[in-house]
Amino acid sequence: MIKIAPSILSADFAKLGAEVAEAQAAGGDWIHVDVMDGHFVPNITLGPAIVKAIAPHTTLPLDVHLMIENPERYVEEFAKAGAAVITVHAEACVHLHRVIHLIKEQGIMAGVALNPGTPASAIQEVLDDVDMVLVMTVNPGFGGQAFISGTMNKIKQIRTWLNERGRHDVHIEVDGGIAADTAPLVVEAGADVLVAGSAVFGREDRAAAIAEIRSSYEG
Ligand code: DX5
Ligand code: ZN
Repeated sequence: MIKIAPSILSADFAKLGAEVAEAQAAGGDWIHVDVMDGHFVPNITLGPAIVKAIAPHTTLPLDVHLMIENPERYVEEFAKAGAAVITVHAEACVHLHRVIHLIKEQGIMAGVALNPGTPASAIQEVLDDVDMVLVMTVNPGFGGQAFISGTMNKIKQIRTWLNERGRHDVHIEVDGGIAADTAPLVVEAGADVLVAGSAVFGREDRAAAIAEIRSSYEG
């Protein structure tokens, strides 16, 4: 089952509660929340208070993508705020294994993310520990950027490694430039959670936008 996770980065921040409710009504499977600190990435977005504020407006899992330095400092707070998944960047963690287990100790799913310039090998040693690998298909920081097709090999490599370990339950999420034209490529490569920001919230009709992405790989 392929999941679509609308990213609220492209939603109207003045009415986030209504936006997440609409994304759920429109057929989204997870709500993707982009947390940026102005250090790890050039942009600044939102913190745990906003996650806590939107949580009552949806029953979908909140998929929190931390694009921040020292993410271990905030894991507990985001978990308490209602995150169902917390993903940290391999590039931001000196003690990646420790941070992943800190997330799992909160009783939620742990993800590890890779920038386009980071090789798959950077997470090879934690593949038995994670619930999800996030392969960035753009350089993180902003919505609406062009999909980087060179990341396909990395998705295939990670799916192969997971299959070899019998870890068929581990999700591979992709994030950046995902729309009806790119979704079939990433699904074919082995991704099963598709983040879509501008392709969903940039459209008036969110249900049609999600349906178009879904039908692009369902044929
Ligand atoms: C980018 C964020 C993405 C962003 C994707 O740094 O991590 O989640 O919302 O936006 P689109 O789908 O517009 O490329
Ligand atoms: Zn994201």
